[in-house]
Amino acid sequence: MKKRGRFSTRKRNRTNKWMNIIVGIFFILIVASIIFIGVNGWNVRQAIESVRGETEQPSEFQEIVPNPDEHVLTDDEVGNDHQEAKEPEEMPLKKVEEPQITPDNKVKVEPKKKSAPVQEKPSSSIGYIEGQELPDKPKYVKGILIASKQYPLPKDFAPGESKEARAAFDEMAAEALLSGIKLQAFSTYRSYDYQVTLYNRYVERDGQEAADRYSARPGYSEHQTGLAFDIGEVNHEKHWASTSFGETEAGKWLGANAYQYGFILRYPKGKEEITGYMHESWHYRYVGKEKALQIFKRNITLEEYLGIQ
Ligand code: DAL
Ligand code: ZN
Repeated sequence: MKKRGRFSTRKRNRTNKWMNIIVGIFFILIVASIIFIGVNGWNVRQAIESVRGETEQPSEFQEIVPNPDEHVLTDDEVGNDHQEAKEPEEMPLKKVEEPQITPDNKVKVEPKKKSAPVQEKPSSSIGYIEGQELPDKPKYVKGILIASKQYPLPKDFAPGESKEARAAFDEMAAEALLSGIKLQAFSTYRSYDYQVTLYNRYVERDGQEAADRYSARPGYSEHQTGLAFDIGEVNHEKHWASTSFGETEAGKWLGANAYQYGFILRYPKGKEEITGYMHESWHYRYVGKEKALQIFKRNITLEEYLGIQ
C-alpha cells in the first residue's frame, strides 16, 4: 500500500511537472506575442505582416526600398523649419513643429507594368529627356506651373512657399480638425540646392534607378514651385512619407476632401508611367479649387488634365 502510494505520488509529481512546463511555455508565448504586437503599435495586422516580411521574399516584391515614397524620411527633409539655421531661404512662412520621426520604411514596390504606354517625349525609360538642360523660364500650361521629368524649372527659380497654397492648407487643416484629424505639412518649398542634397543622398543610398522613382532630380522637383505640400498627421509620424499614410484616416480624408481646398494627389497609384513617380499618398499639389475639382471628378493626373503626358 505504502509502495503504491509512493508510486502514485511520484507519478502525480511527474504529471504536475509536465503540466507546469506546458503552462509555462504557453505563458511565455502569450507574453511574447503581447510584447511583439505592442512593439508594432498594437496593430495585429502590422505585427503579422512584419513577421511575414522578415521571413518571406515573395516574387512580386520587386525590391524592398526604404520609404519616402519609399525612402527613409530624413531629418532634413521633414519639417522645413528644421532647416531654419542651415537654409534660411527654405523657411516656411508659418512655423511647423519639428518632427520626431523615423518611419520604418520597408515597402512593397509594385512591379512596373509590362505594357507601358510609349511616351513620345522622353528618350529615357525613366521619364527624363536625355541631355535636356534646365530652362530660363518655368513652364505654364493652362495657367498652371508645371514641374515634372519633362518640364524642369530654372535653377534660380526660388519663389518660396506659396502663400495662397499655405492659406488653403490652413483652411483644409481646420476642417480636418473637426473630424479629429490634425494635419501637418512636413515638407513644402524646397530650393534647388536643397534638392541637390536630398537627391544625391538617395542615389547614394538606393542607386539612381531606384531614387529616380521617388525623388526628383534637382530642378525637376515640384517642391521647388512652392506649391507641393507633403502632408502627414501630427503624432502619427510613422506614416509620414510612407505609402501606409494612404490607409490611415487622415490619408483617406485627404484623398476624399483635398480637392475642395484646391489640392490634388499628385502621384496617384498606378499612374507612374504618366507622372514619372511612384505613388505618393502624402504629396499634394495646389492647383486652385476649380482645377482641383475637375481633376478629382475625372480621376486623372495633372499631366492628363493639361494634355502633356
Ligand atoms: N518626391 C517628389 C517626386 C520630389 O522629390 O519632388
Ligand atoms: Zn513631396
